[in-house]
Amino acid sequence: MLLKGREGAIPASWAWKKMVRYLVAVIAIAGFATMLWPSSPKKTTSVAPTRAHSNITISANVKCDPDPDMLDRLSVRKLAQYTRREVVVDFTEDPLPMRQRMDTPLLDVKVRGSSHTNELGEPQDGCTIPAPLAVMAPKPPKMADASHIDFGVATSVSRLNESLDQFAHWAGYTRTRIFALIEPEEDKKKAGIAYVKAKADNLGINLIVKESEDDYLHRYFALVALLEENMREATRWGCIIDDDTFFLSMPALVKALSKYDDTKPMYIGGLSEGIPQIAVFGMIAFGGAGVFLSRPLLSDLATVYDQCEQMTYTGDRRIANCIYQYTTTRLTVDHRLHQLDLMEDASGFFESGREPPLSVHHWKSWFHADMPKLSVISELCGPTCLLRQWAFSDGWFLTNGFSVVQYSFPPEQNDLTMEMTWEPHNGATEESYLHELGPLRRKDDHKVSYLLEDSVIEENGRVTQWYIKRDKREGDQILELSWRKR
Ligand SMILES: *[C@@H]1O[C@H](CO)[C@@H](O)[C@H](O)[C@H]1NC(C)=O
Ligand SMILES: *[C@@H]1O[C@H](CO)[C@@H](O)[C@H](O)[C@H]1NC(C)=O
Repeated sequence: MLLKGREGAIPASWAWKKMVRYLVAVIAIAGFATMLWPSSPKKTTSVAPTRAHSNITISANVKCDPDPDMLDRLSVRKLAQYTRREVVVDFTEDPLPMRQRMDTPLLDVKVRGSSHTNELGEPQDGCTIPAPLAVMAPKPPKMADASHIDFGVATSVSRLNESLDQFAHWAGYTRTRIFALIEPEEDKKKAGIAYVKAKADNLGINLIVKESEDDYLHRYFALVALLEENMREATRWGCIIDDDTFFLSMPALVKALSKYDDTKPMYIGGLSEGIPQIAVFGMIAFGGAGVFLSRPLLSDLATVYDQCEQMTYTGDRRIANCIYQYTTTRLTVDHRLHQLDLMEDASGFFESGREPPLSVHHWKSWFHADMPKLSVISELCGPTCLLRQWAFSDGWFLTNGFSVVQYSFPPEQNDLTMEMTWEPHNGATEESYLHELGPLRRKDDHKVSYLLEDSVIEENGRVTQWYIKRDKREGDQILELSWRKR
C-alpha cells in the first residue's frame, strides 16, 4: 500500500524561517507586555540585589547580579563565578582551518568594575568582559534541498514526539521526508499521532506516520519495504535511522552523498568505533550512524524481502545479512557517519578540531551531549560554524556549541590527535578505536572544562550559550557567550 505524504513543502530560506520566529517572538512579547502592563505601572526602579535569592548562594567573586531565573533554569545552587562576553562573527569565503589560532585571550581579560564604561561608553557590570571577541567563520551554506533522500525510523509516538525538535535541525524545510513506523496506538491515543503530525508540520518536517503490529526489530527491517514502496521520482536514497541519530548539517550530508554513484546499488554506513562491537555485530552499517541504501539497492532488496524476513538476525544486522546473502553489493564505509559507541565521556571526539561528523548517535544514553542545544548556534552562523574551534592565547579552547576547555598538555595547531576521554567498552583497548578515531592521545586528567548546558536564540537574532564548570563544593562557574553577526 502506498502512503500519501505531504510532499513538496514550501521551499523556505533561512530568512523566511527567521521571520516566522521573529513574528512568534513579537507576539509573545506583546502578549507578555499586555499581561504585565496594568499590574506593574510603577516598576521603574530595578529590583534590589538579593544574595540569597531562593537558596542560591552567590560568591563575593561575582561582581554583578545574575538573573535568578537563569540560575534556576541552569540548576545552579551555588555560584562561584559568572563571566559574560559578546562574540561577533565575521564571515569569509576563504578556506579556514577547523582549529583557528587566536593571538588574543578569551577569558584572561581585565573585567572592569561596575562604575566603569567600555570603549563605546556603555556602562559595564562587573561580570562582562567589555571588549567583544571577534571571530571568523565560513560563509554559511545555502539551505539544502534533500528531496532525493527519504528517511525511515521505527519508534513510538511519544519518542517520535520527543525527537521532532532534533529532526527539525536537519530535516526542517529541506523537502526530505521522514517515514515513521510506530507501535499501534489505542483509539484514545490516536490524538497523539495527529498532535505529532501537526507539530512536525510547524517545524517544516514532512512526516508520514504508519502503525505496525510488529515488534521493534521487525519494524526496523520493515522500513526497507516501506521506503521502497514509497519512492517518488526524485528519490535517490533511502536512509534508515534510529530516533537518536542526529545529522549535524543537511548541506554537508547532501554534499557527501553526491560523491557516491546513486545509479548503482550502494550500501553506505558507519562501523562501530570499537573493534569488540564489530566482532559481535559484524562488518555492518551500524544503525545509529544511519544506513544509506541507493535506489537500485532498494529495488534489489524488494525482490528478496520475504526471504530476508525469515533470516535469524534482526535490525541493522538483518539488513546487512540480506544484502550480503542475496546481492553482491558490499558496505561502503563513510568515516564521517558515526554510531558513536563511546561510553561516559565523548568530549575528546567533539573537541578534536577535525572536520565535523555527518551523524552522531548515543548522545542521550552512552554519553550526554544535548545535540539540539549544541546546534542552536547554527541558526546564527550556519552549520559550518558548529564545533568550529578557536585556540586562544590564554590557553582556552572554544569548541563552538560544545565546550570551553584548558588542557594541561594542549595540542599544537596541526595536532589532530583525538583525546581518548571515553571508557573502553566490551574489553576494548586503545587500539580498538584507531581504525575510526586515530590518531589518538591519552586522556588529559587535568583538563578544565566548561560544558555547554543551554543555548537559546533571542528575539533579536542573537544566540546565547551557557557553558558551565560544575563544582558542588566550591560552586559552579558560568561562562555566557552572546553571539551576533557583524
Ligand atoms: C529552599 O530551601 C528550603 C529548605 O531546604 C526548601 O524547603 C525550599 O523549597 C527551597 N526553596 C527553593 C526555591 O529551592
Ligand atoms: C508531545 O510533547 C509535548 C511537550 O513537548 C507534550 O506537551 C505533548 O503532550 C506530547 N504529546 C504526545 C502525543 O506525546
